[in-house]
Amino acid sequence: MYQIRTYNAISDKGLSRFDASKYAVGADISQPEGIVLRSHKLHGEALPESVLAVARAGAGVNNIPVADYTEKGIVVFNTPGANANAVKELVLAGMLLSSRGILEGRDYVNTLGEMDDADAMHQLLEKQKKQFAGSEVAGKTLGVVGLGAIGSMIANAALALGMNVVGYDPALSVEAAWRLSSQVRRMESLQALLGEVDYVTLHVPAIEATRNLINAETLKLMKPSAVVMNFARDAIVDADAVLAALNKGELRRYVCDFPMPNLIGNSKVLALPHIGASTAEAEENCAVMAVDQLKDYLENGNILNSVNFPHTSMPRTAGACRITFTNSNVSGVLGHVLTLLAERSVNVIDMVNKSRNDVAYNILDLAQTPEDSVIEAIRNVEHVISLRVLPCA
Ligand SMILES: NC(=O)c1ccc[n+]([C@@H]2O[C@H](COP(=O)([O-])OP(=O)(O)OC[C@H]3O[C@@H](n4cnc5c(N)ncnc54)[C@H](O)[C@@H]3O)[C@@H](O)[C@H]2O)c1
Repeated sequence: MYQIRTYNAISDKGLSRFDASKYAVGADISQPEGIVLRSHKLHGEALPESVLAVARAGAGVNNIPVADYTEKGIVVFNTPGANANAVKELVLAGMLLSSRGILEGRDYVNTLGEMDDADAMHQLLEKQKKQFAGSEVAGKTLGVVGLGAIGSMIANAALALGMNVVGYDPALSVEAAWRLSSQVRRMESLQALLGEVDYVTLHVPAIEATRNLINAETLKLMKPSAVVMNFARDAIVDADAVLAALNKGELRRYVCDFPMPNLIGNSKVLALPHIGASTAEAEENCAVMAVDQLKDYLENGNILNSVNFPHTSMPRTAGACRITFTNSNVSGVLGHVLTLLAERSVNVIDMVNKSRNDVAYNILDLAQTPEDSVIEAIRNVEHVISLRVLPCA
């Protein structure tokens, strides 16, 4: 039985994927091989030696001491893209809300609570409604900055709304490129994109290179009728510069998931309380993905969506015994292990070796289960950090 320790409330949709005949799962498991958690902080917490992997149901991993775990050979997983649809839907809602006087109209109607004559009310509304008129998004141009999990979904959805879509991503991944419609026009630079758009939406990581991507200079490139949407991170937009542009009539609206004190109460700002990923479905998707990745690692040694280990995956060879090992990323370790196996006449049927920064990870399918002395010899090879022998397929 694999032992799994959970922290936080993990969705049952995810936990129910642990087959009860193979897994004992709970918050009171003391010697777990795997941990599933959401925001519980593991910093400063002594981890039992039994732990092989930690799966975070979510994207950020700053509640996990990743570098420390890497040195111990513990794989840390996250669930990138599991909340992408939730963010996509909120961005579309933000764009539609910013194009029409929906919220203003709702607020105006709510001021009429004292009126008890329906006919008079309808006459008044017919007179007043022109102040809440807007424009349609169909035929307008949306610029998507960052075409990863979220950006690519938004680009495709905007095309379905009849918009023209231009995108900018200097490091577009192959997976994202496959997902993206060929109707999305790729721009050479952020500057070129900003000059063309009616709406721009940002979906880049918050790193030094993206700090204040939208600033006083880049805002000048945009049409005064344009709308900026930020559902990525607050650091990506210079809120002071946005406020100045709104006040001078150089920007129509700012829609964001990151309220800043200077934006509160501004009628041209629609600020939400960081609810981009706050849906029941996103929570379930994160739990399902975290559990599936952890199971595949424990049962097959495969690594998908780890933040500290290389993506390493190999289909099981029928009848073969599988060993996996982690070593420091220095030359000669795999050669040494293969020599040890060859000396004992253990035939390697298939193998994969990948590295990432300071660690290398190896999966080997062997024709027969090696004797304990061979396993011990591999464990003792210099720079080998950890080794596992998995049941035969
Ligand atoms: N509002 C929320 O609740 C919420 C929820 C989930 C994610 N997010 C944020 O959304 C952002 C995107 O998430 P994702 O899952 O799509 O990430 P992702 O890693 O799948 O995609 C990010 C993309 O940005 C691109 N990129 C990096 N630097 C760039 C630059 N300078 N210009 C243009 N593109 C650049 C990358 O190449 C990548 O394709 C992250 O900042 C994340 O923190 C917010």
